[in-house]
Amino acid sequence: MHKNRRTFIKSTAIGATAIPSIVASLSEPLLSEDDLKPVVISTWNHGLAANEAAWKILATGGKAIDAVESGVRITESDPTGQSVGIGGRPDMTGEVTLDACIMNEHGDCGSVAYLKGIEHPISVARAVMEKTRHVMLVGDGAKEFALAQGFPEVNLLTEKSKKDWEEWKVSQRKVLPKINVENHDTIGLLALDKNGDLSGACTTSGAAWKMKGRVGDSPIIGAGLYVDNEIGGATATGWGEAVIRAVGCFLVVELMRQGNSPQKACELAVQRVIDKNPDWREIQVGFIALNKSGEYGAYCIHAGFDYAVQHPKLDNQMIKSDSRLSL
Ligand code: GLY
Repeated sequence: MHKNRRTFIKSTAIGATAIPSIVASLSEPLLSEDDLKPVVISTWNHGLAANEAAWKILATGGKAIDAVESGVRITESDPTGQSVGIGGRPDMTGEVTLDACIMNEHGDCGSVAYLKGIEHPISVARAVMEKTRHVMLVGDGAKEFALAQGFPEVNLLTEKSKKDWEEWKVSQRKVLPKINVENHDTIGLLALDKNGDLSGACTTSGAAWKMKGRVGDSPIIGAGLYVDNEIGGATATGWGEAVIRAVGCFLVVELMRQGNSPQKACELAVQRVIDKNPDWREIQVGFIALNKSGEYGAYCIHAGFDYAVQHPKLDNQMIKSDSRLSL
């Protein structure tokens, strides 16, 4: 996608409202595209710590694929986060099951779903991508593969999540998970490295109190994550079933391919989710997107979704996503 420099700056400002200083005066020296590399963007507040780890790799010229894996591993290891990795809320039977996927700049991808007892599903997904002929391993097969690769077995259920589950069992069996809390679920992280290559990672414990065996959008290439190194990448958060119905992240990337900014692509994809899900007012879905030029954007159904961004002109910080519905 060709852009002249001025167009690039204007559309960056539209897609990323957090950099007003860049557009404060167009008489100031213009940024070249190189100035917006590297870039890291990730979902929710846990994205700050994930971005920090990713940035250490990106800032020293490291590869996006290493940055995205290192970033989300931080979230997976945080026992206080109840939506990813250790500490994740369990399914309705009290078992924590994890889903994750990863994509590199070559379009290679790896995924694991319904994985139990392993701290870093994202690294298992990467091992699937790099060490097997397959894209996706699930359940017992994924676990056996992880153990054979030397990943240690751990207990994922913390006392806090166990207690929450016990309370849910007693009092809230019929209540849907709360928007932006119990489905404040996924970390999706996208990175553009100094070389101009894109990668993405997505990892979650899924919806709280889900049915045994349920898998959401997060490990499904095209739904929870998609990266095309010619165009850009996208990742999703929220109610996975709705994202799967729209093949959400593939849609965002294809919308960017058609010439839409990352921001506009996220907005159009949320509209598609709305069109395909009659219950859309009761669910949250959010997308973030990053293109090859370092422009980024986000959009969601319900207010409350935010994302973390860092690039050479912006310290790591949270940005509030625009939404279809206000609070
Ligand atoms: N978005 C994560 C899930 O629905 O499992």
